[in-house]
Amino acid sequence: MPLLAIVYFSVSGTTDRLAQAMARGGAGASDVALCRIAGHDILSGRFQNESLLETIDRAGAVAFGSPTYMGGPAAQFKAFADASSDRWSQQRWANKFAAGFTTGACASGDQLHTLTYFSILAAQHGMLWCGLDIPGGDDPSGRNRLGS
Ligand SMILES: Cc1cc2nc3c(=O)[nH]c(=O)nc-3n(C[C@H](O)[C@H](O)[C@H](O)COP(=O)(O)O)c2cc1C
Repeated sequence: MPLLAIVYFSVSGTTDRLAQAMARGGAGASDVALCRIAGHDILSGRFQNESLLETIDRAGAVAFGSPTYMGGPAAQFKAFADASSDRWSQQRWANKFAAGFTTGACASGDQLHTLTYFSILAAQHGMLWCGLDIPGGDDPSGRNRLGS
């Protein structure tokens, strides 16, 4: 089965719950690797968890997740993204499917900026971005209720 890697950062657990829900949604259609970025992955300001990066190397689809902090992804997620630059230079993640998810304390909270960042990261890597195929406000179960 193809592998879905969900790479995310979470402190108080909300983004983690979204990641777990995504893993449940993907189960059956793919193997799923939950790759939670930890504070101790970052040494002297650099993300240094090579085995997490190697998990993404093996994946056919990657979901990026982070709480929105100060209008963008958390610094811990950004440290991971910065560490992917060697892969970027060789386009090793090209043609993988990519998606993203975020949380925030406010209904808007500039969270779209975090999602836009994920899409740009995916584009830099030559990945294939998957948006939400649910028109805003249309879903009876409330998904994409704010419209994005
Ligand atoms: C340093 C910091 C900055 C934050 N900035 C934002 C923000 O810009 N917009 C927003 O909606 N929420 C913001 N929040 C709230 C978090 O995004 C929110 O609590 C989120 O659910 C935390 O995710 P977690 O439970 O996965 O750690 C911020 C929280 C912290 C600690």
